[in-house]
Amino acid sequence: MAHKLLYIETFGCQMNVNDSERIVSMLADLGYAATDDPATSDMILLNTCSVRGGAEEKVYRRLANLRIYKRGGKKQIIAVGGCVAQQEGEELLRKLPYLDLVIGTHNLHLLPNMVRGAERGERRSETTFIDNEQRADLFPAIKGESRLSRFVTVMQGCDNFCSYCIVPYVRGREISRRSTDILTEVRQLADEGVREVILLGQNVNSYGLKTASEPTFAELIHQIAAIDGIDRIRFTTSHPKDMSDELIACFCDVPKLSGHIHLPAQSGSDDVLKRMGRGYGRESYLDKVGKLKALRPDIVFTGDIIVGFPGETDADFEQTLSLMEEVRYIDLFSFIYSPRPRTRAAELADDLSRTVKMARLDRLMELQRRHTREISHTYIGSVMSVLVEGEGKLPGQVSGKADIGRTVNFSGDSSLIGSFADVRIVKAYPNSLLGEPL
Ligand code: 5AD
Ligand code: SF4
Repeated sequence: MAHKLLYIETFGCQMNVNDSERIVSMLADLGYAATDDPATSDMILLNTCSVRGGAEEKVYRRLANLRIYKRGGKKQIIAVGGCVAQQEGEELLRKLPYLDLVIGTHNLHLLPNMVRGAERGERRSETTFIDNEQRADLFPAIKGESRLSRFVTVMQGCDNFCSYCIVPYVRGREISRRSTDILTEVRQLADEGVREVILLGQNVNSYGLKTASEPTFAELIHQIAAIDGIDRIRFTTSHPKDMSDELIACFCDVPKLSGHIHLPAQSGSDDVLKRMGRGYGRESYLDKVGKLKALRPDIVFTGDIIVGFPGETDADFEQTLSLMEEVRYIDLFSFIYSPRPRTRAAELADDLSRTVKMARLDRLMELQRRHTREISHTYIGSVMSVLVEGEGKLPGQVSGKADIGRTVNFSGDSSLIGSFADVRIVKAYPNSLLGEPL
């Protein structure tokens, strides 16, 4: 019986969302139940992200706001996890006397012990990276979730060291999970009624490449597709340089593989890509996009773009816009470059003014809004298979995701939840589609 309350705030990527779910599941064994109210909670945890600038300051500010709940001698545990915790470590405990725990990105398995200690008043920081041999410790199972679509971590960390990116320093070097463990977990999920798995990692398409005995990511997808009960497979996130022909072929050979791919280009300019250390150029990126479109004509792309990278000229930026025109992303996550500690790009002069960066971001977002609108409108009248996951936006509606990853709301009752429904699209909104059941 739960008798303590846990409040978590999650920032950043899917990896963190997934870790937060793991934390809830692990601490349930200690009698903690999740709550939305920090004021009445027994423990507050901030699961932080440091991929873009200002992350540390943001965490300090948020903690300063949250600590008011601890006043008046109240026994409340305050913890910081995720990438800022990994980056700052002990320093956080030193700076913030009211902070109890700092838990790094590789140390979740220690959390129950740390929380027990904190309940007795101990303060502790754990930020040691785990090596490949102990990798099972990195992925404690998530229990007690009853959703139809679930994340399955296949790898974590990154060995690419793109010049702007802090991930290798805060998530550690690439570690692939054992395929036998992944397959066991997916089979278990299928037995529990899960219909869709989303394979998760910072760079899933380099899965297994460093261990000869493990399958490639494409082979892993084939093995997962063979599991009865799992009807749809997605993955995120991919590095274009590791997008092999074998993996591209999966979009044709594996009908269960979703027709959406997140393929971050970061820039459309060869010069900028080179300075970013991405390991591919514009042509090779577009070549892969072209192959994917040829094999799966209805495929949908999303991506990430950084604007204002050091030395980005007007001409470089025009190249990015023209890459967007060629790919036509349905959605794009665009960011203004910010220097991150320890990265190579932090040594380059951050030479563009805020005004120039903002103007470029505005133009890029304007173009993206047009693409999103145009692509979404082409869906009107088409029929999509929707995995119905819950109640819809309005009463009498249900909601789920189509194969291309878009949210579709349509009229129907809750008995549809858990099944795939064929739905005709009647209206397109910026972030979702409206349909009618067939
Ligand atoms: N500045 C701006 N954006 C960044 N990203 C990663 N590092 C930086 C940085 N230093 C973006 C990239 C990445 C996404 C998760 O965040 O586009 O794909
Ligand atoms: Fe942010 Fe990267 Fe950490 Fe995810 S892995 S939380 S994106 S810094």
